[in-house]
Amino acid sequence: MRRLTLRQFRVFEAVARRLSFSRAAEELHLSQPAVSMQVRGIETILGLPLTEQLGKKIFLTEAGQEVLYASQAITARLDDLQSNLEQLRSLDSGRLNLAVTTTVSAVATDILARFRGRHPQVSIHLDVSNRESVLNQLATNRIDLAIMGQVPDGLDLEAIRFMDNPLVVIAPPHHALAQRRKVSIRDLATEPFLVREAGSGTRGAMERFFDARGLELHTSMEMSSNEAIKQAVQAGLGLGILSLQTLEQELALHRLAVLAVESFPIMRHWYVVHRIDKRLSPAAQAFKSFVLQSAPQTPGKTTR
Ligand code: PGA
Repeated sequence: MRRLTLRQFRVFEAVARRLSFSRAAEELHLSQPAVSMQVRGIETILGLPLTEQLGKKIFLTEAGQEVLYASQAITARLDDLQSNLEQLRSLDSGRLNLAVTTTVSAVATDILARFRGRHPQVSIHLDVSNRESVLNQLATNRIDLAIMGQVPDGLDLEAIRFMDNPLVVIAPPHHALAQRRKVSIRDLATEPFLVREAGSGTRGAMERFFDARGLELHTSMEMSSNEAIKQAVQAGLGLGILSLQTLEQELALHRLAVLAVESFPIMRHWYVVHRIDKRLSPAAQAFKSFVLQSAPQTPGKTTR
């Protein structure tokens, strides 16, 4: 079966719009016979005339009207496609799909605010959830980039380290251990702890730290947000282990104290992460470079 071509649609669309073969030929920089040939090509395939001439005037037949609708729809769709592709190519009207873990969200939003200052047109979609959820979004290719703690081996991810993330033990300022200049890890064994939910990177790091030392913490409550843990610790419900980066205000206002525990802080790091085979858009590429440039320490690259 012979198929209609885009060229035929384009030529016919001009004829139908101008209701003249010669004016269409002029507009398209073609000869009039070339225009007639394209229109005849459609008529042959459809087996129906598209135009009729009454006196000196050209009219569209019913079939001609149908073909005009179709060619207008096709042309509009192609124009949309072209402008969408241009947007994808251009950095300044691009889109950035980003996921960050809860604990890094304050650092990430600060970087995003500065990035927005430079590229105000980039539209940004930010998901904030725990480590397990961010890994899941990377695995299912729902995001361009992630900012999170160290990623597991064997997931085909490129992860570049760009910042330290120290985890510290917190207590209410009036707590007995907060008055001590040195606290041993054993001293923590008798204290109740408020911990993040399973799936949190902070929780995983904390468990690995105590497992490695053969110590089991007494966890009194599990909570799915750092904010909730800070409030519970302030309320005297137990101790907590959180990233120092989430504690700026509470420490400045003396609502919480960092305990001087031996071997602390647990030193973790923040990474900018994407799938190895991901073809980053200009917006995503620019954001990745921006994060690495804003790094306050020498980044180390790992591929996992
Ligand atoms: P989370 O973040 O505890 O909020 O999951 C830490 C991480 O990314 O490992």
